[in-house]
Amino acid sequence: MEIQENISLQPYNTFGLQATARYFVEVNTLEQLVTVLKDNTFQNLPRLFLGGGSNILLTKDFEGIVIKINLQGIEKQQENELHVWLKAGAGVVWHNFVLHCIAQNWAGVENLSLIPGTVGAAPMQNIGAYGVEIKDVFDELEALNLSTLQIEKFALDDCQFGYRESVFKHIYKNQYVILSVTFRLNKTPNFHIEYGAIKDTIAEMGVQQLSIKAISDAVIHIRQSKLPNPAEIGNSGSFFKNPEIPIAQFQALKERFPAMVSFPSITPALIKVPAGWLIEQAGWKGFKDGHIGVHAKQALVLVNYGGGKGNDIKALSEKIQASVFEKFGILLHPEVNFI
Ligand code: EPU
Repeated sequence: MEIQENISLQPYNTFGLQATARYFVEVNTLEQLVTVLKDNTFQNLPRLFLGGGSNILLTKDFEGIVIKINLQGIEKQQENELHVWLKAGAGVVWHNFVLHCIAQNWAGVENLSLIPGTVGAAPMQNIGAYGVEIKDVFDELEALNLSTLQIEKFALDDCQFGYRESVFKHIYKNQYVILSVTFRLNKTPNFHIEYGAIKDTIAEMGVQQLSIKAISDAVIHIRQSKLPNPAEIGNSGSFFKNPEIPIAQFQALKERFPAMVSFPSITPALIKVPAGWLIEQAGWKGFKDGHIGVHAKQALVLVNYGGGKGNDIKALSEKIQASVFEKFGILLHPEVNFI
């Protein structure tokens, strides 16, 4: 294990932003992680735990230690006639986990194909796409308590998953590091193809027999057609959460903007409005200012064309928030974490 100093974080965040970490270390085992956490040199310094760096906006240099969690491995824990339980290390690349499941014909995560990031980061914000969220296949996770350095288990209810939410973003913020996640996959698939363009894409692909592989291929096709590849254009997926507003507010807005799109919320008194639609209506889709901008095919995605600054993206996000608020009276909340 090598502790490096004054390291550029550019390769470690999908926005491709330049920021320097005072210290940087990649840990491959629990023992290495505990050694770093016990090291006196870093006791009073801020810590940043990093997975794939796909949900952060670096606005300045980091004057502490960045710990990249690289715990690997996918193990079958148990199985019965209906299910198989897989435990994956926090550092496993999420899409590789999805591909592993599809190759074995274990269903449940096919709709979550190609989401950037790692297994350990996935429960933090209950990643979701195309009608499925990680909570639907979640069994339990193991996390290291940063005060006691003991491993604790969290069952489904302990995590309090919501739309892009969990306890790890709120009451337990900065108190735990996720080490592994156990998923319960299905041996018989329960297909989810109602959301968005999945059904049409599968038809266009000429699929005869529906399968989890076909759904995964369709999701990959849709994502690649709308979302910029971070290897080519820096971004971190959806920048804001889709806002949920009271039904009365939605009805009043719908009178003024009849084309307004909406989705049901899990909370019955609320309606979910796509932030991408609001941002596009406020005139930002395809906006470009020097090195940064708003993606031309998906207005919810802010982009760094190369050489952009985190603070400029932050300033752009604030302008977008202000103009959406002025037009619709809706305040957008970032999904991305500002560092
Ligand atoms: N829309 C527009 N203009 C745009 C973008 C979207 O009018 O520029 C409208 C679309 O017409 C559509 C609606 O907004 O009716 C929803 O768009 P889309 O299906 O692209 O999904 P989204 O709501 O923008 C959410 C997630 C994505 C996830 C997709 C598919 C959030 C914050 N984002 O995006 O997740 O992949 O649904 O399920 O919930 C992410 O979290 O980083 C992410 C990419």
